[in-house]
Amino acid sequence: MFELPQLLPPLLLLFLPLVLLIFLNKIFSSKAAEDDRRFPKSYPLIGHMIAFYQNKSDEFQWLCNLTMASPSHTFVLHRLIGFRQVITADPAVVEHVLKTHFPIYQKGPFQQSVLRDFMGSGIFNADGETWKFQRQIASYEFNTRSLRKFIETVVDAELSDRLVPLLSDAAKTNKVLDLQDIFQRFAFDNICKISFGYDPEYLSPTLPQAKFAVAFEEAVMITAERFRTFFPFLWKIHKLLNTGSEKRLKLAVREVREFAKSIVRQKKQAMMENNISEEDLDLLSRILKSGHTDEKFVTDIVISFIIAGRDTTSSVLTWFFWLLHKNPRVENEILREIKKNREIQRNETEHSSVLEQVKEMMYTHAALCETMRLYPPVPSDTKQATADDILPGGTRVRKGTRVTYHPYAMGRLEKLWGPHWAEYRPERWLKTEESGSGWRFVPRDPYTYPVFQAGPRICLGKEMAFLQMKRVATGISERFRVVPAVDEGFEPVFVPNLTAKMLGGLPVRIEERI
Ligand code: HEM
Repeated sequence: MFELPQLLPPLLLLFLPLVLLIFLNKIFSSKAAEDDRRFPKSYPLIGHMIAFYQNKSDEFQWLCNLTMASPSHTFVLHRLIGFRQVITADPAVVEHVLKTHFPIYQKGPFQQSVLRDFMGSGIFNADGETWKFQRQIASYEFNTRSLRKFIETVVDAELSDRLVPLLSDAAKTNKVLDLQDIFQRFAFDNICKISFGYDPEYLSPTLPQAKFAVAFEEAVMITAERFRTFFPFLWKIHKLLNTGSEKRLKLAVREVREFAKSIVRQKKQAMMENNISEEDLDLLSRILKSGHTDEKFVTDIVISFIIAGRDTTSSVLTWFFWLLHKNPRVENEILREIKKNREIQRNETEHSSVLEQVKEMMYTHAALCETMRLYPPVPSDTKQATADDILPGGTRVRKGTRVTYHPYAMGRLEKLWGPHWAEYRPERWLKTEESGSGWRFVPRDPYTYPVFQAGPRICLGKEMAFLQMKRVATGISERFRVVPAVDEGFEPVFVPNLTAKMLGGLPVRIEERI
């Protein structure tokens, strides 16, 4: 016969899950009552886990709503065993984290472990000296001479030799194109040409489905999924066992790295064969020339630049053309600005450069800012505290706590943008010139509008991105009407991966104007 003490362990094993189930059931069944409350309940040890899983399918919007609803616009998410994540839409906290207390708030070990497989020690995933070196060397890429070269030789050539003929052909054949895919191809060719001196010809008439691009997409998606999970140890176990999405991530990253490595090798070969003048150095040759020949490190930098260049502006331009379709008044203003710009050029004896012309397009500039207010390409971004701290408003931060600022939520706050925040209104960024001759752009401070981040790590490519987006936006609008090929009532869905996208892309038909 069995003694009671012998029976205890199996009995406990049997009953513990039962007790846990009853406990969870009680909590879930009280959901209706909980719905009345604005904020989810946090439990000892498991924190907000239950509410998190109840909202898992739209976790991004859920956290956004909570942050917006909080009176201080700062919400503390309680993770497992006492870990906390602060999410904020308060400009004072954003300034504190990104600027005044910059040394405390780093990328940190959590983010680095999530991103390392895909991005290695590239600029987006680096702190300290590794970051400083990359920032310094990359900043040459963005001086006025490089920007002029970018707009005149790279963007304009891709626009007139590839994009316009492709759209013209689609207009003739009434073909449906995925606008987001077209812009990604455009931006990918652009960033490879200016940063690495390499032309992948990804925007070609047959729209080839490169293995590299598919792998890139998969790597971005799975890496973003790592960020979202409530149980980070789960992806680590999958990684260890090489199973599930982690197995797919490994294969995708291998493909991406092979592609980036081939760019590095070609550049090394070209540098050995030709003596590149200081004037013709691009980012990649500058890094190699500085003595950094470690292939893994240089490949990391190449991958970071592809992410920065390919996925941000393409997302903005896709939302921009959607918003123009919904707001014909704004589209007409942009056409008026293009026409006026053309007239000035015709009447002037000395023509201004493409760079200057693009810079002058104030209304288009404002329309793009307004697009990014509503649909920021980097919708939220996280830092990790390296020391204890207190945020403006009083939230306590312990060493190791993650602090996320949320440009997507900030763009929707009545307190920051007024009662008509939901309207697409470029005019909120503009004042009429006193002479009455046109618009003057009125920027918002970068803590209220941290779409390009702010402080010492503010986006290096901001000006380059605006030039490219304005040139493409006006170059297309001048000649074509972009008509979404979607059913009545269709509303696109914002997907907040590492960089945001429109779910499934934007199918469009192209019509020639006149
Ligand atoms: C609309 C377009 C763009 C937006 C909204 C944007 C936004 C951002 C944001 C939010 C960051 C901070 C990311 C972080 O630290 O986690 C960033 C950093 C950066 N961006 Fe952009 N970006 C854009 C386009 C570009 C382009 C075209 C380039 C050119 C290659 C670029 C180059 C960079 C670089 C190098 C950094 C790293 C800066 C650092 O860590 O010191 N960006 N960008």
